[in-house]
Amino acid sequence: MNKTEGSFIILDQVDSTNNYAMGLIHSGMAKSETAILAIEQTNGKGRQNKEWRSGKGENITMSVIKEHSSLPIYRQFELSMVVSLACVDFFNIFNLGAQIKWPNDIFLNDKKAGGILIENVILGSQVRWSVIGIGININQKVFESNIIATSISMATGVEYDIVQMARALKQCLQKRMELLGLNMGSEILEEYNKSLFKINLNCRFKRGNAIFETTIKGVNMSGELMTKDTMERVFELNEVQWLL
Ligand code: BTN
Repeated sequence: MNKTEGSFIILDQVDSTNNYAMGLIHSGMAKSETAILAIEQTNGKGRQNKEWRSGKGENITMSVIKEHSSLPIYRQFELSMVVSLACVDFFNIFNLGAQIKWPNDIFLNDKKAGGILIENVILGSQVRWSVIGIGININQKVFESNIIATSISMATGVEYDIVQMARALKQCLQKRMELLGLNMGSEILEEYNKSLFKINLNCRFKRGNAIFETTIKGVNMSGELMTKDTMERVFELNEVQWLL
């Protein structure tokens, strides 16, 4: 049964919580900070038009609506960093040191434990609304064979209540989101880079048909990946593909 408790909506089944949240925005019914949690998504969306599959009732699949009073498009990576850091904070509750795999996958023990898909409504040069979609593996222990994934439960051996977990994640998000608009971009970037997966390590990437190795040096304010090998390089979002 679907439930609404204040600004927390729990849906038994939906195509995608991001689509549902976007529908609320476009119909003028959205309230900032509302969270939509689905027990099951039938058409969960990942980044780069990929599918996001999640075992029914086993994980967090949630979208949080955020209305911005002032978030210029050129600062949108700040939101992405804040959301990634909120996820790291959430893992910290369980004493788990999660890392952010550029741009915003959440990794635990070198395996994917979560992903973030932010979709924005842009008006002129400003981001007016964001739908912050987060999928975090909580109790799932068996994944499709082509996916290298893990979950909080696999790391701790404990089974969790998904609704309680989603509420805790929402709190982490709200706390971090308070930093947006406080002119703290460089502090946020520093923290993001501290949690960056494979920082200062040599990694393999693919660009077009070319496969190459380069050392990750960090991410800049625009969300570009900075690396170094025989020369310093900067890669835009989606320009390169990780080869792990
Ligand atoms: C990725 O790693 O590719 C991003 C995955 C984002 C998945 C979440 S689950 C809740 C929200 N609804 C969706 O359809 N996608 C996001």
